Amino acid sequence: MASPTAQGLVAAIRQSPPIDLTIPYDAAWVKDKVILITGGASGFGAGFVRHWAKNGATVIVGDVNVGKGDALAREVQKETGRKSVHFVHCDVTDWQSQVNLFKEAVKLSPHGGLDTVVANAGIAQPDIVQNPGDMSVAEPPKPKFKINEVNWTGVLYTTHLAFYWLPKNPGSKDCSINSEPGKQSRDRHLLLLGSLASLAPIAVQPQYGAAKHAVLGLFRSLRMSSHLKGVRVNLICPYFIDTNMVTPGARVLLAGGGLGKVEDVVDAGTRFVADSRILGRSLVIGPKVHVTQDEEGQWHYVEEGTEGSRETALWEPCADDWEDTEAFNRGFVKILHAVQTARGWTGWAVDMVKAVGNALGLVR
Ligand SMILES: NC(=O)c1ccc[n+]([C@@H]2O[C@H](COP(=O)([O-])OP(=O)(O)OC[C@H]3O[C@@H](n4cnc5c(N)ncnc54)[C@H](O)[C@@H]3O)[C@@H](O)[C@H]2O)c1
Repeated sequence: MASPTAQGLVAAIRQSPPIDLTIPYDAAWVKDKVILITGGASGFGAGFVRHWAKNGATVIVGDVNVGKGDALAREVQKETGRKSVHFVHCDVTDWQSQVNLFKEAVKLSPHGGLDTVVANAGIAQPDIVQNPGDMSVAEPPKPKFKINEVNWTGVLYTTHLAFYWLPKNPGSKDCSINSEPGKQSRDRHLLLLGSLASLAPIAVQPQYGAAKHAVLGLFRSLRMSSHLKGVRVNLICPYFIDTNMVTPGARVLLAGGGLGKVEDVVDAGTRFVADSRILGRSLVIGPKVHVTQDEEGQWHYVEEGTEGSRETALWEPCADDWEDTEAFNRGFVKILHAVQTARGWTGWAVDMVKAVGNALGLVR
């Protein structure tokens, strides 16, 4: 029998089942939600902003690009005929700037709270990690890891502030698989922007790859415990998508392959924001393709119209940690379980005595 520690761990994980992408959601479920998004002035961010505002949400955009952010807010307000989008200047690498963004967003919120926070701001640029520059100097100067600051430190700041403001959202309840999207607008939802580079290495971009792996680690860890604050956390992992972020050089390298589309990222993000029953899940977004799936769950690329095929750009990576789906984890977790079983209740009791002694400063 598993020890109380193992039982407690399993009970602590709150994750909804894999998303069935054949079941539709209603974008109108975002109506009346208040959504804060970083980096919302262009790319996916702007796509989210337009779609959510059109469907009745109020969106507060924090971005360093004042020109694009202001123009977007004015344009969408005109289109929707209401104060659906607000722009606030924010540099996500600056703690105080993010603090101000969140405070301003709460002031602008028609109901005085935030239902969803989207940590979307990100950059890609030539990476210096493996390029220290002038090789003739005695020692390289201290580097500025800008990609890490925006794509990781910025995300941590956003996450920290989300865990302060989301639980305070007036009228919101703890997140639940049994919530009723469309009936209850109040929510506590953090949506993280990872990348396929969260799941796989990315050549010549080690800093970007490491930062996005870090976002994945953040997501996997948070989803084990975010429910303690009633907050649900989800993750989007796009493949290369047709935005300004994909440089001409990358486009040359990718030529002949497929780029994903902003509309499909918006579809994935809207499902997460709209459907409050989705807890701790991730979606990968790639080029739209026709596929079939065999009995072992393997996907096959097929021609349009092939019997049993469907068209999709979205994929569930099925990161069901506690089912030990990853090969290494499966083996390693088995060993850990075996250790726990071998030590049994006696081992548990010894450890508990040690833990109490440690807390009292009696045991080191
Ligand atoms: N486009 C892709 O292929 C792709 C693939 C995977 C993941 N992503 C991720 O998706 C997110 C959005 O990317 P995108 O393709 O829409 O890029 P984008 O360049 O079109 O948009 C990024 C936005 O972030 C803003 N921004 C940059 N630095 C900022 C800072 N310090 N503070 C506040 N805002 C800042 C920019 O001004 C811009 O509006 C990023 O996190 C990116 O890493 C993109």
